[in-house]
Amino acid sequence: MIKELFIKKTLAQLDKEANDNSHGLKRHLGLLNLTLLGIGSVIGAGIFVLTGTAAQMHAGPAIVLSFVLSAFGCLLAGLCYAEFASMIPLSGSAYTYSYATMGEFIAWIIGWDLVLEYLFSTATVAVGWSSYMLSFLADFGIYLPASMAQSPFEYDQAGWHSTGAFVNFPAVFIVVVLTALLVIGIKETVKFNNITVIIKIVVVLLFIGFGISHIHPENWMPFIPKNTGVWGQYGWSGILTGSGVIFFAYIGFDAVSTTSQEAINPKRDLPLSILFSLLVCTILYVGVSFVLTGIVSYKELNVAAPIALAIDRSGAGLKWLSPIIKIGTIAGLSSVILVTLLGQTRIFFSMAHDGLLWKCFAKIHTKFKTPHYSTLITGFFTALMAGIFPIGLLGELVSIGTLLAFMIVCIGILIMRKIEPDAPRAFKTPWVPFVPLLGAFVCLIQMLALPTDTWLRLIIWMAIGFVIYFGYGRKHSIARKNRNAKG
Ligand code: ALA
Repeated sequence: MIKELFIKKTLAQLDKEANDNSHGLKRHLGLLNLTLLGIGSVIGAGIFVLTGTAAQMHAGPAIVLSFVLSAFGCLLAGLCYAEFASMIPLSGSAYTYSYATMGEFIAWIIGWDLVLEYLFSTATVAVGWSSYMLSFLADFGIYLPASMAQSPFEYDQAGWHSTGAFVNFPAVFIVVVLTALLVIGIKETVKFNNITVIIKIVVVLLFIGFGISHIHPENWMPFIPKNTGVWGQYGWSGILTGSGVIFFAYIGFDAVSTTSQEAINPKRDLPLSILFSLLVCTILYVGVSFVLTGIVSYKELNVAAPIALAIDRSGAGLKWLSPIIKIGTIAGLSSVILVTLLGQTRIFFSMAHDGLLWKCFAKIHTKFKTPHYSTLITGFFTALMAGIFPIGLLGELVSIGTLLAFMIVCIGILIMRKIEPDAPRAFKTPWVPFVPLLGAFVCLIQMLALPTDTWLRLIIWMAIGFVIYFGYGRKHSIARKNRNAKG
């Protein structure tokens, strides 16, 4: 019984599944498209919203160092993801990697945990998209009734209370539109993503390029403000806490690995695109945070749209950039929602393909060649959450879910090197065991720094997952059926 819980899929089995194209997904994605998907799901609310808060509350101008530190943690996990992606070209990302190394039960835990990362971050970013869209429309004198413009509930230290609103309509709207696009096809999805990613990269570069000449170096003095005596308020502990806050900005590079079965040459291109997207995003983040804290004093940056504030402060000469920044942000957030939704549907697809979720999640539309049920169900729940929950509550679960997945992937590499030392790897994580061990440690430390409430919610979420696994998944597991058939 216990042994059955830890039944594994061998690399040979996974390779066979990867080469079996009867699943119906289409291989359309090359290195450039994959990298743009990675960047698409990374650059979003983190840089456009959280940077200011993290600078004012924790790190000051040294938020730049927080970005470097957070990138370093992500790179450790990214290198481990890259090795797995080069060995196992299947769409389940960390879920599939743990099926091969730690067995079905852990794979289920990770698969279910990835829902926290993907579903909740999509809903979080959709709520952020809604705020930017409302402010963009307001610039043109267009206003939505208040009852349609925010979540019906708020959650703060006093607990839950009603806001009097009915639904966050723009958040629901964007999820519905992008879900429809995902159903229509991967080619169309990628085209839309490429356009939005290019817009957001151009906008970020415009901000850096034009902002540089409006920097007041005195805003960087002192670069690392003195700690106030409280852990996390400036000084080195502030840099550390700041890196935990802006970790959200890096979430998403792993989404590339959920598209393995739609990649033309997954073993070569997936590892490269994971690492390229991390590199591009880190460079852009460091550039933005440098310019931002140079234009506006960190003491004033805790606002919902810090980049827009910096443009306003740059004087009349940069006024033309203001609407462009808003459009860039809206485009940027749209691609995060799109690719994160995509990732979630492919993880559900893989889990259903293995029999751990209902078969409809693995059904592929005969014409569109996309997992349409999985996409519609994901879209429905995301729209529901985005429409009724406030952003804070949604966002806090995302980090813990992601960190747990990253940690398991790092540990998975150590196991994979033990059980399959000679298997061909198009990419090898350097300095094993040092890199995966440090990666797992960094993730664990960041998880331990999260509030008890978040841990409690993670435990409740997992308990729901166990009910589904023991009630359905375990009984329908294909790996278990195959093994029993062999006797
Ligand atoms: N990294 C994504 C963002 O910042 C989730 O929006």
